[in-house]
Amino acid sequence: MQTEIVTKDQTKFVLQPNLKDYEALYKNFDWKNVHNEIEWFDNGELNAAYNAVDRHAKNHNKNKVALIYEAANGKIDKYTYLDLKHMTNKFANVLKKLGIVKGERVFLFLPRIPAVYASFLGTLKVGAIASTLFSAFGEEALLDRLGNSKAKAVVTTPDLKQRIDKIKDKLPDLTYIILVNNEPIQKIEGQSAMPITIDYNEEMKEASKEFEIEKTHPEDHAFLLYTSGSTGKSKGVVHAHMAVLQQHYTHKLIHDIHPEDIYWCTADHGWVTGISYGILGPLSNGATVLLYEGRFDPEGWYSALERHEVTLWYTAPTAIRMLMKAGEEITKKYNLSHLRHIYSVGEPLNPEGIRWGLKVFNLPFHDTWWQTETGSMLISNYPCMPIKLGSMGKPFPGIVAAVVDDTGQELPTNTEGHLAIKPGWPSMLRTLWGDEERYKKLFNNGWYITGDRARKDEDGYFWYIGRADDVIKTSGERVGPFEVESVLVEHPAIAEAGVIGKPDELRGEIIKAFVALRAGYTPNPELEEDIKKFVKQHLAAHAYPREIAFVDKLPKTRSGKIMRRLLRARELGLPEGDISTLED
Ligand code: WT7
Repeated sequence: MQTEIVTKDQTKFVLQPNLKDYEALYKNFDWKNVHNEIEWFDNGELNAAYNAVDRHAKNHNKNKVALIYEAANGKIDKYTYLDLKHMTNKFANVLKKLGIVKGERVFLFLPRIPAVYASFLGTLKVGAIASTLFSAFGEEALLDRLGNSKAKAVVTTPDLKQRIDKIKDKLPDLTYIILVNNEPIQKIEGQSAMPITIDYNEEMKEASKEFEIEKTHPEDHAFLLYTSGSTGKSKGVVHAHMAVLQQHYTHKLIHDIHPEDIYWCTADHGWVTGISYGILGPLSNGATVLLYEGRFDPEGWYSALERHEVTLWYTAPTAIRMLMKAGEEITKKYNLSHLRHIYSVGEPLNPEGIRWGLKVFNLPFHDTWWQTETGSMLISNYPCMPIKLGSMGKPFPGIVAAVVDDTGQELPTNTEGHLAIKPGWPSMLRTLWGDEERYKKLFNNGWYITGDRARKDEDGYFWYIGRADDVIKTSGERVGPFEVESVLVEHPAIAEAGVIGKPDELRGEIIKAFVALRAGYTPNPELEEDIKKFVKQHLAAHAYPREIAFVDKLPKTRSGKIMRRLLRARELGLPEGDISTLED
């Protein structure tokens, strides 16, 4: 089970896995027994950013590289834990100077650059709540999230700021735009209108690198991530500082982090994976993290794996399928022998992906299952446990997972039902921002209902079956059909729209829209292109319908709700099921 590592300078070391016996640990596990894995202040206070940064900046990790940043132009910068401490302190001081206090919302709308680390962790240090926005978001998506949370400040770049400028008049609470820019910002005459633009580089230069961290309570809110459901607008999933305990411990036991590792999580910080396993989990373990700014590109990725001697790699099925498509030959051009473990998350990992990984990396991809709401990995394949190809694995120690029926009763082995989790794990969401009612609806009969359908086999392995709701997973990114439909009907040509996820070999699912046009419009290729562009611009570049079908009308219930289930069944040639509520 141990692995031997040889680095460029031929140093050899042998690693023992952090988790040697899954069953034994699971049997007697209690979260209380691992509280000392992280560092607490007196009186049981806890700050996730302190754990991620400061506790390492005062021990032997002080001069260890925390962050390797490879810019899109290929330039490489390295930051030690002490550097990170100073950067995050400086940012905390910038916020303090602006009067931002505990509980206020600070958003990051940034590409994958080091300012993400400085501002995310700096926000946590003042006790404010950090949130992120995926850089592909358009105006509507931004307005929903910034408006719902009453954001006080947004950290962004000049390029992305243009999209904020278009909606800022509708955001009365947005007071500051903190602009990360290579060039000094031109002082604008009489700049008094809200929001006020702040020069990140200037302020960071001037700010003190000392900061007294807010002694937050483990239950204090730390970060807020918007995600999509099947109905309504996106919901703000609220996480507490306590989440860091589970992010830390899962990263340690599942990703098997060791001091010598170079770890690369390919997810963007606009999504939960980029936060929990791009920032908090690995840094809390004192890891060296690769931040790769460039876009997906097989040769670019392989050369990054080689150049940085990546040992642990956490990625997603769509990326794996795209690498498979690029072929086996190009993998031979690179030395990928440093890889020790490889992992996957976000959508079902097909057995073909695992077999291919074994062929080209000589390693199996370990699938992990979790959600924005769960804050960290809950079901997983552990390095010490045999993999059943196609299974998500087994629940992490301390996690009770089950398959339940519509009333929340546990179902027998090998029966399909709702995947459910016993509430109370440390990184569980604490509420939905401003919507406690909707939050309560996530639970049934003492279980948290995940929205996924699954079955559990006789050995306790969980198998993913599909979503129980209409949530779409395209290239691993979660998209709510209602959000897409809302934007579609704003297009002048569209009277009504229904949106579904259509299975796709490469992307898992693609978004397909069924639209009925207003009188006077006829379907044509230009209109189709125009609709796609409209959704990209208003909602998000990743959330536009790759397929559009023009229909005369949409199947609706008598109460006027579009029957997506029926659209999907018809599209896929499946049985239509119960259509007694269909309007005519
Ligand atoms: C949904 C959560 C959690 C990190 C990124 C996604 C799907 C997630 C798996 C997996 C099959 C998976 C589920 C889940 N999903 N992991 N290993 N196998 N499906 O977070 O955007 O909140 O999406 O992603 O449907 O509910 P998210």
